[in-house]
Amino acid sequence: MKVAVLGAAGGIGQPLSMILKNQLPAGSLLSLYDVAPVTPGVAKDLSHIPTDVEVVGFAGTDASEAVKDADVVVMPAGVARKPGMTRDDLFNINAGIVAGLSRAIAQHAPKACLCIISNPVNSMVPLAAEVIKAKGSYDPHRLFGVSVLDVLRSETFLAEEIGVSRQAMQVPVIGGHSGNTILPLLSQVLNGEGISEARIDELTKRIQNAGTEVVEAKAGAGSATLSMATAGARFALKVVRGLLGEPGVTEYGYVEGGSAYAKFFAQRLEFGTAGWKRTLPIGTLSAYEQAALDGLKGTLEGNIKKGVDFATEWLKTN
Ligand code: LMR
Repeated sequence: MKVAVLGAAGGIGQPLSMILKNQLPAGSLLSLYDVAPVTPGVAKDLSHIPTDVEVVGFAGTDASEAVKDADVVVMPAGVARKPGMTRDDLFNINAGIVAGLSRAIAQHAPKACLCIISNPVNSMVPLAAEVIKAKGSYDPHRLFGVSVLDVLRSETFLAEEIGVSRQAMQVPVIGGHSGNTILPLLSQVLNGEGISEARIDELTKRIQNAGTEVVEAKAGAGSATLSMATAGARFALKVVRGLLGEPGVTEYGYVEGGSAYAKFFAQRLEFGTAGWKRTLPIGTLSAYEQAALDGLKGTLEGNIKKGVDFATEWLKTN
């Protein structure tokens, strides 16, 4: 497996690369890319960890060598938000970065599974789809938005709430990766714990607002990096396991297709040797969740359109 990390020298990229160096299967190649000149140094640093994963690093404005023939690309590139900003406020800065990198992937790694962490994920994935489509190499089964941090957070908060091990929790989170589009299906986990509707509403809102919780706690120094790196690595390693033919590997991710609710939708995916091979049913929803699902559709569709519209304009001049 060749796995490339784009934005590898940043706050998410470095810990993400470290987890991948430690956990990718023996014989893999980990290719780090960032505009920051330190990137080859980050690769050198990681290369001293004794695992059978080779690490190379590239810096500069051209990602082509770094992504060339990659099987998986993980993209945390871009800027993070500061207190008072929404993920959508990052759109204007990150959209050009994601478009340029997506084009490089379409050209130099047309078979890669691309896992996008760059925000706003809800818009960046449709944007990347359009850019890759323009190069003729788009396959929706190989393009993902990484929304799994919402699952990690839900697992943590729910385990705290009902007093069980965090490791024992599995919480479905569907929709998208911002604000009210993040929809944890707590009714599928909380059975007979006697948790009130009001408390479920509080927990849901805490999960939806958890990224902002970190942004505010970091007080201007960025957003979630370590938990996001953990989420990104969990997702990418599952994609790798699927590509290698392991059966039954699943995770929540934001993809095009398989949902009646929106063109792009976060849902449970089963991975295969060519990306995600099927989406799994979302299961039974409570009345509260059904209302939330109906309510998020408009926001998600607006986010998707924003990404597509940007790509349409970008492609005219690039
Ligand atoms: C997160 O969920 O922590 C990330 O999407 C970063 C952010 O801006 O919230």
